[in-house]
Amino acid sequence: MNVGVLGTGNVATAVGEGLAASGHRVVFGSRTPEAKAGRRPPVVGLRDAARHGEIVVNATSGRGSLQALERIGPEPLAGKILIDIAMHPDREPAYPDSSLAETIQAAFPGACVVKTLSSVPARLMANPRALGAPSTVFLSGDDSEAKRLVAGLLEDLGWPPESQLDLGGLATARGPEHLVPLLLDVYDALGTSAVNINIVR
Ligand SMILES: NC(=O)c1ccc[n+]([C@@H]2O[C@H](COP(=O)([O-])OP(=O)(O)OC[C@H]3O[C@@H](n4cnc5c(N)ncnc54)[C@H](OP(=O)(O)O)[C@@H]3O)[C@@H](O)[C@H]2O)c1
Repeated sequence: MNVGVLGTGNVATAVGEGLAASGHRVVFGSRTPEAKAGRRPPVVGLRDAARHGEIVVNATSGRGSLQALERIGPEPLAGKILIDIAMHPDREPAYPDSSLAETIQAAFPGACVVKTLSSVPARLMANPRALGAPSTVFLSGDDSEAKRLVAGLLEDLGWPPESQLDLGGLATARGPEHLVPLLLDVYDALGTSAVNINIVR
């Protein structure tokens, strides 16, 4: 599929390169594409990346995500699946009674937002087997067909179906988003972010 990955940082690189390695046609979207000329997959402007994508991935900083999407505007996102991986980095919830994912969905009702991978460290997003044991990736979204397509992309990134846990509608993105303080404490306690949550049934 054509995938536009917004951002050029750790998460964008992991997910974009992982999907490209699975045969998807990936471009990255940046505020400064000219500064990243020559990168593969190629880097274009944010709006061009959104136009390219049948699926658009938000891998921008949590504080900059709405600004990034507003730069793109609603038209290139209309009718698209928008995978939101972004997290607000603060320990205090930025959206105490909501989530970034729901806020994006409300601002861009023509897109179909699916939250996933946000509780997984970037280094494991396209390489979950690096842990040597199964672990869990959550999905949240209001559209079942969109989640089915995203589940396929997660499989392409190395997440087998039994590692994927569909939490339900987009409001369930609050759980993974509000895990930020716990995750930061776990990384601090263990001295590494090479860890992930595993839900055992
Ligand atoms: N790192 C992790 O392990 C991890 C895990 C789970 C979730 N997340 C979340 O995933 C997102 C990306 O994380 P990261 O580690 O890749 O961060 P990062 O390395 O700092 O990259 C963030 C990217 O966002 C873009 N950006 C920043 N401010 C922007 C703005 N105002 N408008 C448009 N684009 C902007 C930048 O791209 P350009 O400079 O090219 O425009 C930058 O490459 C964050 O929301 C983070 O909380 C990260």
